Amino acid sequence: MTSNPTLPISSVPDPMDAPVLKWGILGPGWIAHRFADSLKKYSTQQVVAVASRNQGRADEFAVAHSVPRAYGSYDALTADRDVDIVYVATPHTEHHACALAAIAAGKHVLVEKPLAVDAAQAAEIVSAAAEAGVFAGEAMWTKFLPKFDVIAQVVASGVLGPIRTVLVDHGEYFTSEHRIYDPALAGGPLLDLGTYDASFIHSVLGAPTSVVAVAQPANDQLDGQVSAILTSADGNHAVMNTTILTDTPTTAAVCGRDGTLTIEGPFFMPGSFTVEFRGGPTLEYREDRGLQVDGLHYAAVDAARAISTGRLQSSVHTLDDAVATLTIIDAIREQIRLTAR
Ligand SMILES: NC(=O)c1ccc[n+]([C@@H]2O[C@H](COP(=O)([O-])OP(=O)(O)OC[C@H]3O[C@@H](n4cnc5c(N)ncnc54)[C@H](OP(=O)(O)O)[C@@H]3O)[C@@H](O)[C@H]2O)c1
Repeated sequence: MTSNPTLPISSVPDPMDAPVLKWGILGPGWIAHRFADSLKKYSTQQVVAVASRNQGRADEFAVAHSVPRAYGSYDALTADRDVDIVYVATPHTEHHACALAAIAAGKHVLVEKPLAVDAAQAAEIVSAAAEAGVFAGEAMWTKFLPKFDVIAQVVASGVLGPIRTVLVDHGEYFTSEHRIYDPALAGGPLLDLGTYDASFIHSVLGAPTSVVAVAQPANDQLDGQVSAILTSADGNHAVMNTTILTDTPTTAAVCGRDGTLTIEGPFFMPGSFTVEFRGGPTLEYREDRGLQVDGLHYAAVDAARAISTGRLQSSVHTLDDAVATLTIIDAIREQIRLTAR
């Protein structure tokens, strides 16, 4: 550390300056509403079409977000020649089929997290997009936030010293009516909230060489809570917890020999963090938490920038990153009681 250390500045460009893509949305559910709001408020990206399995639901969404075209089938949207990129906002189990259909129609795709329900499905999406010469990406929106750009710079700079420990939890209480309780939709915490944990661990420590996991059932069909210890090639540890049975602090920490970076909860959203050096200063990144998931536009804008320069994947959150996250999830799932697929 220098005698007067400061945090790096975010290198995320102004979202308003990005080239404009025409977006089509598949699945007008909870996240799709927030995505459309975020694009409208904070970017110049245009949502030109929405599709539902039901014409009435597509119409309602189109009216709510002033979207010019509403389709009663997903195929009709992917056939729309005036759509550049498809945002897949369906439940996890549908991501694979929706992404492959859009790719087959020649569209770029940005798929909600998780990219698919397992690494094998995700790899099929990656191959199909490469063969078709279209962009594919996972909307792991957290990684595209300015806050995470600063965190990535701090970690990469080495100022924390060798990273020994990563701690991360993501717990939210859900009632049983939510889709997260539906085994047919690959419910449970792991593929949903747990993808943030696994992605964060992978971004700091890389792929683990060993995974030990335990689960607590929510009922006789579904996991309710999953905890895991992941060990990196050089023996360092990551500890993760994810649950739908209770609200947890949802904080994260990256602990090095010389310093500790602590992200306040909910760690995956805009917000604050500190970097505390042993026997030295504490640096503070202060940011309003903002609205829930207010920041989805950063992933969309990153896709627009990539596509406009002929790149077929993000450099912030690569397809390898998305597949590696699911490889971690697969390894955890192998050890716990139920298979979520
Ligand atoms: N980035 C984030 O912060 C965030 C937050 C929440 C969720 N997500 C992700 O976004 C995805 C969608 O989650 P959500 O909470 O928005 O779900 P949701 O509210 O249930 O919406 C999903 C939409 O998908 C469509 N759909 C297609 N096939 C379906 C099926 N077999 N069963 C149910 N719906 C189906 C439905 O629309 P139609 O039937 O009208 O076509 C539904 O409105 C998930 O993969 C989740 O991980 C991300």
